[in-house]
Amino acid sequence: MSAAEPVDLTVADLHPALGDPALTSMNFLNEVSERHPGAVSLAAGRPYEEFFDVAAVHRHLDTFHRHLVDDLGHRPEQARRLLLQYGRTKGIVHHLIARNLAVDEGITVDPEDVVVTVGCQEAMFLVLRALRAGPADVLLAVAPTYVGLTGAARLVDLPVWPVAGGPTGVDLADLADQVRRARAAGLRPRACYLMPDFANPSGVSIDTAHRQRLLNLAAQEDLLLLEDNPYGLFHSDDGPRPPTLKALDTSRRVVYLGSFAKTVLPGARVGYVVADQRVGGPAGPVGTLADQLAMIKSMVTVNTSPIAQAVIGGRLLEHGCSLVAANTRERSAYTRNLRHLVAGLTRRFPDQPDRLAQADQPGVRWTVPAGGFFVVVTVPFEVDDALLDRSARDYGVLWTPMAHFYDDTAPVCALRLSVSAVTPEQIDVGLDRLAELITDELTRPAG
Ligand SMILES: Cc1ncc(COP(=O)(O)O)c(C=O)c1O
Repeated sequence: MSAAEPVDLTVADLHPALGDPALTSMNFLNEVSERHPGAVSLAAGRPYEEFFDVAAVHRHLDTFHRHLVDDLGHRPEQARRLLLQYGRTKGIVHHLIARNLAVDEGITVDPEDVVVTVGCQEAMFLVLRALRAGPADVLLAVAPTYVGLTGAARLVDLPVWPVAGGPTGVDLADLADQVRRARAAGLRPRACYLMPDFANPSGVSIDTAHRQRLLNLAAQEDLLLLEDNPYGLFHSDDGPRPPTLKALDTSRRVVYLGSFAKTVLPGARVGYVVADQRVGGPAGPVGTLADQLAMIKSMVTVNTSPIAQAVIGGRLLEHGCSLVAANTRERSAYTRNLRHLVAGLTRRFPDQPDRLAQADQPGVRWTVPAGGFFVVVTVPFEVDDALLDRSARDYGVLWTPMAHFYDDTAPVCALRLSVSAVTPEQIDVGLDRLAELITDELTRPAG
């Protein structure tokens, strides 16, 4: 080979996860949306952009800066260093996150057990990297599940075993069964990943009694629970929210994953993990899981941008560390949209028998979640990427095939609609177009 010859690599020589559907899914969905900029998107789970405010970002930064000097007593040069220099691996807003968890969720955590991460995505990666000790390790995850979790698991060579979700949010008999089957096969289930509040994509929530039963089962089976909670604040009724698993956790069984993408700003790329589990070494205790995660983080992103953390910190400080208080406008917009979407489906499919809380019967069905961003519509035909492409091109509406949230290739007859990034008017247009597509598919001659 001459020195001038270009270097070509093959994907077969790279990490096996590259090219895996779990990693290509998000790119594919973005590409479809870019190819059809005129299509109404009921696909994107992004927060509503009209609420973004560049001036507020400056204010948040100033608020956090003042907090460093006025509340924490840092000298000006110390405060400047904290904001602009390389920094503490576990982050600089950990104390505010701990306060937020106490105020909004009734969770008591030692700030030292919080690791501030580059989005929740990094938190998932760090946790899975730490838990995957060897080839016998597997992760259980309630299916359908968030594709970012599956992708992160692939990157650390951790197989994901699906656990049935069902109407309760997690089928405990199936969870127990999967644990036993994995162990009988000589494998070690390290944890079960789930979203107890308005899950992505199912929209299903777990009620308080079932959360308690889940914790009991996890204790019985000695299983960690990875609780991911990006949507919990966006409940659509005024009743009390069920406590998080972490709030109910009395034995450090729950690793809690947090994201500020939906409650503050996705562009800040700040999330966190609460990992208060004690870790022992051959010569005794070596600290907490948070310490171990920080060690991994120091070799991945070194530390989360302190400037981005400061923006989040400032927003927290401006609302007494309550994201509930900071998100009243967002919550009411998402609630209004969710109701509008469900009413719109009911109007457009009036001949269908009563909708069910779970879309598990023939005909066109949809879920009616009590909050969050997502509604799942089930139809009597397969919903795949080719149909999405046609929907975008010929009908001008985007949605997400539910097949993207299952870790196998079985056909899926359902799609996910998101209400977060659209107006009620856009929902109307999108639903008109979707109804046309569904009607055409239902009346299309077989073969
Ligand atoms: C369930 C779930 N977890 C995690 C994330 C990622 O959060 P972040 O943007 O903080 O990385 C998302 C984003 O959509 C999500 O839906």
